[in-house]
Amino acid sequence: MWDVDGNEYIDLVGALLPNILGYRDPTVDEAIRTQLSSGISFSLATELEAELSETLCRLIPSAEMVRLGKNGTDVTTAAVRLARAYTRRDLVFSSGYHGWGDWSVAWDDNRIRGVPWAVAAQTVPFEYGDHRVFDLIKKEEFAAVVVEPETNPEYLRELQSACVLSGTLLIFDEIITWPRWGLSGAQGAYGVTPDLTCISKAIANGMPISALVGKRFVMEDMEKISYSGTFFGETLSIAAAITTIKKLEAGKRNAKPTGSGGGCRRRRPWACRGPRGRRRGRSGRRCLYPRAGSRLYL
Ligand SMILES: Cc1ncc(COP(=O)(O)O)c(C=O)c1O
Repeated sequence: MWDVDGNEYIDLVGALLPNILGYRDPTVDEAIRTQLSSGISFSLATELEAELSETLCRLIPSAEMVRLGKNGTDVTTAAVRLARAYTRRDLVFSSGYHGWGDWSVAWDDNRIRGVPWAVAAQTVPFEYGDHRVFDLIKKEEFAAVVVEPETNPEYLRELQSACVLSGTLLIFDEIITWPRWGLSGAQGAYGVTPDLTCISKAIANGMPISALVGKRFVMEDMEKISYSGTFFGETLSIAAAITTIKKLEAGKRNAKPTGSGGGCRRRRPWACRGPRGRRRGRSGRRCLYPRAGSRLYL
């Protein structure tokens, strides 16, 4: 890709991680074009929505029911609201970044402006790996523990035990890890199944879509909370998601850029290994590195 000054970049971030198959994947783009000829948004749920939901339930261990959204913040915020409604508790333990929702920015002085203190005070931040949280969870005051399950399966197992003992819901934010840790997510890779899971980013190779999936006993309460969006059932993104997942499942994952429009002509993994920041590759071209929160290279 090129910036306005004509500098050329190799975008290994893949647009903040959605483009898991590379820019302009021909199969996904064709699926979008085909669906476009049938319509974009409808008054009722479509068969595509059911097909995507069934696929997610087949792949993700915690998925027994599914609700779609448009971005990661939609579904992390929905998951927390659902957990609060289900447990009738307000406090939430949160580790890491989960979007810009009021509930999740409380821990960060740079993000908290505009969030009512009464809301911010209901979220308790903790550092992933900190064992002191187990005893606090067991006090039975927390609706949910929200984590990004990137590493340390043993820690996840202990979190899960504390949650089970205290009636606290365990929420995995797999917005980055699914499907990069595998199509069953980090939960499949680590063998720890949470109550609720949030996915987004790479579901549809760049189309805006997210999903909250989870166990039936809690997901059934989605009917009791407010969660709706005009575009949640938008079909171009759903068609793109179904095709992206099919392609990943078929083992056709190919990080090599497939079109010229994105601007990456050749893949040069060597050019962008290294610390965060901008660097020049062997060719002297500048490379983009993941910004904070984006830890992965395609
Ligand atoms: C782990 C994680 N959760 C949630 C989000 C929020 O997603 P979105 O920006 O689509 O609202 C992000 C975004 O970077 C993320 O990395």
